[in-house]
Amino acid sequence: MKQEKIRILFVCLGNICRSPSAEAIMKKIVADAGLSDRIEIDSAGTMGYHEGELPDSRMRQHGARRDYTLDSRSRPVRMSDFYDFDYIIGMDDQNVTDLKRKAPDQESVEKIHRMTNFSPEPLHDHIPDPYYGGASGFELVLDILEDACRGLLNQLRSEYSL
Ligand code: 4NP
Repeated sequence: MKQEKIRILFVCLGNICRSPSAEAIMKKIVADAGLSDRIEIDSAGTMGYHEGELPDSRMRQHGARRDYTLDSRSRPVRMSDFYDFDYIIGMDDQNVTDLKRKAPDQESVEKIHRMTNFSPEPLHDHIPDPYYGGASGFELVLDILEDACRGLLNQLRSEYSL
């Protein structure tokens, strides 16, 4: 029997730094676990200002050093996302608030989570926006995301018996 894919959408403000990194990291972790045919991963932004752009060049460089390919194109969250995805995961509290405001119904609201809630050892309560900072901010984004993505996969494994 062909099983439905589990669909995950990562969301930040611009969809050029944090959520494309979450997408790339989760895709690699899922591929390494041999689960790419079961889990689909995408990302989007709560604003459309950078629509069509590749991820920020600084974020791409920091990601590449850890073997992550950030090649998605920025797009804003759309209404159909709330029906199409099973998990809609914001990088910080503002993302979560904005998503809940856009959500069309209660079922959609229940799909919305904060990324750090999946971290096995939550040393941070959000993924800090690296856009206006230096190199250490981009490294911190990757560190927290790697941890949270592993936690997310563990949760999916137990919830869906993967
Ligand atoms: P992101 O970072 O939300 O992680 O993609 C940002 C990207 C762009 C802007 C802010 C944050 N901006 O103000 O244009």
